[in-house]
Amino acid sequence: MLNLLLLVLTTSWPPAASGQDASSATVSPLNTHCNATAGTNHTAGSAYLSNLRALGGALSRRALATGFASGSYGAAPDEVHGLVLCRGDFTGGNCTDGLASAFRDAAAQFCPGAADATVYYDQYMIRYTNDGRLLSDPGDNEPLWSGKNMNEVTGADAAARFMAKATELMNRTADLAAFGSPPSSSSPSRYATGETWFDEQGVSVVYGLVQCTPDLTGEQCRSCLAGIIAQMPKLFGDASSRPVGGRILGVRCNLRYEKDVFFKETSTTIKLNMPKKLLLQRDLVILEREIVSESDERFSLFKFSKIKDATDNFSRENKLGEGGFGHVYKGRLTTNQDIAVKRLAPNSAQGFKEFKNEIKLIACLQHRNLVRLLGCCIKSKERILVYEYMPNGSLDGLIFGEEEVKPNWHVRRHIIEGIAEGLLYIHDYAHACIVHRDLKPSNILLDHEMNPKISDFGIARICLSSVTESNTTTAIGTFGYIAPEYCSQNVYSTKSDVFSFGILVLEIISGKRAVGSYKLSGRSYELRRYAWQLWKEERCDELVDPSFGEDYQEMDIIRCIQVALLCVQDSAEDRPTMHDVTTMLSNGNRRLLMPAQPGSFNIDIGDPEEL
Ligand SMILES: *[C@@H]1O[C@H](CO)[C@@H](O)[C@H](O)[C@H]1NC(C)=O
Ligand SMILES: *[C@@H]1O[C@H](CO)[C@@H](O)[C@H](O)[C@H]1NC(C)=O
Ligand SMILES: *[C@@H]1O[C@H](CO)[C@@H](O)[C@H](O)[C@H]1NC(C)=O
Ligand SMILES: *[C@@H]1O[C@H](CO)[C@@H](O)[C@H](O)[C@H]1NC(C)=O
Ligand SMILES: *[C@@H]1O[C@H](CO)[C@@H](O)[C@H](O)[C@H]1NC(C)=O
Ligand SMILES: *[C@@H]1O[C@H](CO)[C@@H](O)[C@H](O)[C@H]1NC(C)=O
Ligand SMILES: *[C@@H]1O[C@H](CO)[C@@H](O)[C@H](O)[C@H]1NC(C)=O
Repeated sequence: MLNLLLLVLTTSWPPAASGQDASSATVSPLNTHCNATAGTNHTAGSAYLSNLRALGGALSRRALATGFASGSYGAAPDEVHGLVLCRGDFTGGNCTDGLASAFRDAAAQFCPGAADATVYYDQYMIRYTNDGRLLSDPGDNEPLWSGKNMNEVTGADAAARFMAKATELMNRTADLAAFGSPPSSSSPSRYATGETWFDEQGVSVVYGLVQCTPDLTGEQCRSCLAGIIAQMPKLFGDASSRPVGGRILGVRCNLRYEKDVFFKETSTTIKLNMPKKLLLQRDLVILEREIVSESDERFSLFKFSKIKDATDNFSRENKLGEGGFGHVYKGRLTTNQDIAVKRLAPNSAQGFKEFKNEIKLIACLQHRNLVRLLGCCIKSKERILVYEYMPNGSLDGLIFGEEEVKPNWHVRRHIIEGIAEGLLYIHDYAHACIVHRDLKPSNILLDHEMNPKISDFGIARICLSSVTESNTTTAIGTFGYIAPEYCSQNVYSTKSDVFSFGILVLEIISGKRAVGSYKLSGRSYELRRYAWQLWKEERCDELVDPSFGEDYQEMDIIRCIQVALLCVQDSAEDRPTMHDVTTMLSNGNRRLLMPAQPGSFNIDIGDPEEL
C-alpha cells in the first residue's frame, strides 16, 4: 500500500521507491538535506565522523521504546547533536533498524563529509548537526520539505471545497496531537490521525496524519503544526486545482493527507463529517483487526449476504430457537461448515460501541467449555453473531426434552464438571473477569461428544478488577436462576453465577425444572427448597431422576447435591467460589460444609398448572 502511494507522488520523489522493501539494505529517503554552509568537511577517520557513528547507534537504540530520541555525543569542536523520530504507527525494531542504516547511509552516501544533515523517509527521519543551537529551539522546524500527489481535484469550486476539508482535517488532527486524550499524559505521543468525507471526483475519504516530536509541549506542537498547515494553500496547487495528497515534513512536526489510507487506523482516529454507514464500515475494519491481533484463532467479519445464503434467508426451517435477544438459526457456509447464527433483535438497545466491546470480549475467550465465536456481521441495524454449531442441542432439550433415552448419570456428571470448568475460566482465568449473568439449561450447548459448552455471553459484563460486585441499572437474567441479591438489590457478582450453577446442578440431577412446584409431606416447594428438604431428611434418592435406575453411586450424587445446595445459599458470602466448586467436585474426600436452609426470599411461584 505504501509503496503504491509513493509511486503516485511527485516526480521529485526518488524513482527507487521499491527500496521501501524493509529487507533491502538501503531504504530510499524522500529527501536529504545536506547543509553545505555548516562548516567542516569531515573526512574518513575524523573524530566528528566517529562521534556521529556513536550518536547514530545510541539514538537508534533509544528510539526503540517511544520512536523518538535526541541527544549529543563527543566534545567540542567535534560534538554531534542529533534527533530521530519514527512515525507514530511505525515504531519498534523496524523503525530503529531503519534509523541505524539512515545514519550510515547519510554519512557514507547522501551527505558525505557534511557536518549537518537532515534525511526524511516515509516513516521516520534523522537530523544531526555540529551546531547544538539548531536543535535546542523547539520553534525551529527547518529544513522543511514538501511533496504532493500527482492526482488532483480540479475546478475552482471543488478545489476550494477540498482544501477547506483537508485544512479542517489537519486542524482537528493537530488539536488531538497537541492536546488530545489524555492531555496530561506524561509521555504524549504527539501523533494523531483522522479522516474526513469529501465524495467528489473519485475522492471519497481524505486521510490525515500529523506528528510532533514528543518533547514539545502541547502549545509548541500546536503552534508548529499551525505553521505548516498555513503553508498548505501555497505549497499544494493553486485555486484551480489541488493535489489529492501531500505532505510537509519538518524537523519538529510534520503533516500528511491522502485520498487513500496510508497509516494504521485505530480507535482514536478522528472521524469528521463521515456518513454513518461508512463510519460503521471503518469501525468494523478496525474492530476486525483489533480482534484478530488479540486472538490467535481466526475471527471473521461476515458479509450479510453470506449469512443470508447460509441460513436460506433466515428461513423458519433453519430456526433453532429464540430468546429475549432475538433468534438463532442454523446455517451452512459454502465451505460446508455448520454455524449457529444469532440474529439480535433490531430493537435491542445495544449500540455499536457496546456491541463492539462485547465482541472483543467474547472473541478472546477460548476454552473447551465455552462456545466459540467465529465472527460477526453488522449491517445498518443488523447485529449478528456467528458461533460454532453444536449438533447435540442444549441441555434444556436433553434433560427436559421429549427424547425417550435420557443421558445417564455419568454423562450428566461430565456435563456438570464441564460447566464448572467453563465458569471457573470466565471468572478466574480469562483476561478479564466475566460474569455470565444468564446461566440456564438452554444456554448450555453440547458438542458431538456431549461436552457441555456455555453459550450466550450477550449480557456478560466485565467486572472492574478492584470491585467484585457492581451495580446495574437493569436486572437481566432468567427467573428461577437469579440469585437473591440480584433480585433485590440489583447487585451481581461471580457469586450470582455460582447460584445459577447450583440451580443447574439440581436440575441436572433431578430432571426437574427450577421453576416448578414440588410436593413434599403435603407442602409445595420450589426446586431449591425441595432439594434442601430432601437432603436434610436424608432422602436424596427421591430427588434423583428416576431414569438413572440403579446406575449411579449414591455417595457421589449426594456429594453433588450438597455442593449444589452450598451454591444456592441465600448469602453470597456463604457460597463457594467456582474454584472451590471444582475442587469439591473432583476431590471426593474433602469434607464439605453444611448448606444453610434456603430462606423464603423467593418469589412464591405456585403450581404452574394453576396459572
Ligand atoms: C546550515 O548551517 C548553518 C551554519 O551552522 C546554519 O546557520 C543554518 O541555519 C543551517 N541551515 C539549516 C537549514 O539548518
Ligand atoms: C516489521 O516488518 C516486517 C516485514 O516488513 C513485518 O512483517 C512486521 O510486521 C513489522 N513489524 C512491526 C512491529 O511493524
Ligand atoms: C567534502 O570533501 C569531499 C572530498 O574532497 C567532497 O567529495 C565532498 O563533496 C565534500 N563535501 C562537502 C559537503 O563539501
Ligand atoms: C484552521 O486553523 C487555523 C488557525 O488555527 C484557522 O485560521 C483556520 O481557519 C482553520 N481552518 C479550518 C478549515 O478549520
Ligand atoms: C432470499 O430473498 C431474496 C429476496 O428477498 C431472494 O431474491 C433470494 O433468492 C432469497 N434467497 C434464498 C436462498 O432463498
Ligand atoms: C450427539 O451427537 C452425535 C453426533 O452428531 C450423535 O451421534 C449422538 O447420537 C448425539 N447424542 C445425543 C444424545 O443426541
Ligand atoms: C448499589 O446501589 C445501591 C443504591 O444505589 C447502593 O446503596 C449500593 O451501595 C450499591 N452497591 C454497590 C456494590 O455499589
